[in-house]
Amino acid sequence: MALQLPTIFLTFLSTVVILASTTAGQPTSDDSDYIRTSCQTTRYPETCFATLSNYSATVQRDPGRLAMVAIHIALQHANHTANYFSNMSRNTDPDNKTDNKTESAALRDCSEVMGDAVDEIRESGKEMRRLGWTGESVRFQLSNVQTWMSAALTNEDTCTDGFEGVADGDVKDEVFGRVAAVVEVTSNALALVNRYADTVTG
Ligand SMILES: *[C@@H]1O[C@H](CO)[C@@H](O)[C@H](O)[C@H]1NC(C)=O
Ligand SMILES: *[C@@H]1O[C@H](CO)[C@@H](O)[C@H](O)[C@H]1NC(C)=O
Ligand SMILES: *[C@@H]1O[C@H](CO)[C@@H](O)[C@H](O)[C@H]1NC(C)=O
Ligand SMILES: *[C@@H]1O[C@H](CO)[C@@H](O)[C@H](O)[C@H]1NC(C)=O
Ligand SMILES: *[C@@H]1O[C@H](CO)[C@@H](O)[C@H](O)[C@H]1NC(C)=O
Repeated sequence: MALQLPTIFLTFLSTVVILASTTAGQPTSDDSDYIRTSCQTTRYPETCFATLSNYSATVQRDPGRLAMVAIHIALQHANHTANYFSNMSRNTDPDNKTDNKTESAALRDCSEVMGDAVDEIRESGKEMRRLGWTGESVRFQLSNVQTWMSAALTNEDTCTDGFEGVADGDVKDEVFGRVAAVVEVTSNALALVNRYADTVTG
């Protein structure tokens, strides 16, 4: 699935980044507590707080903004990881007879499904950005976001499948570690979207 939605999403990204760098006021400890409390409802609360606490002044105790920032963070992580794996798989030399073909094929597949996850997370961010602007109900739009974030999580989970037949080693360890980290931020973003959706009645 290749989704093309650069403009709106770039607007979303720059809004998050601008809000984060200029911040309408200094973060207060209440803002920070809000993030900590919200993170308690996620599966990886420590990762959640570590990745989102810098945005407390942007979030300002708003569950919708928190979900949006979490999606932005998940997107950055997934995109970076997809690029990284793609580069790793390119660097396996096709003429090198001792190169493990299973391993490089697994890397390539992993990079592809991670790329699909990136598209789905990007689409989620776009939908968040236009909540209430499409004529559809916000609840319906949020259900789309939930669907895409769940799909992204599933794609990330399948990323390591191709490594089942690959011998243990540095590459495999590195891939599993990186995938696990992306799964954490994506799972957290989905949990925060779910939490936000619970507050929306319209
Ligand atoms: C949070 O901000 C501090 C200070 O600007 C920075 O050193 C740190 O790397 C940031 N953490 C994250 C996860 O972005
Ligand atoms: C993903 O990474 C590519 C390559 O570094 C970059 O050009 C692109 O802007 C990134 N996209 C997002 C949404 O971060
Ligand atoms: C790709 O991998 C090579 C070799 O491992 C490395 O030198 C290079 O910096 C990497 N490029 C990117 C964009 O990660
Ligand atoms: C060939 O691949 C193996 C396994 O990845 C690696 O250890 C070795 O350095 C490579 N040889 C060359 C000449 O690139
Ligand atoms: C390549 O992977 C297979 C399957 O795990 C393994 O049996 C074999 O030892 C590996 N070869 C190298 C050169 O690492």
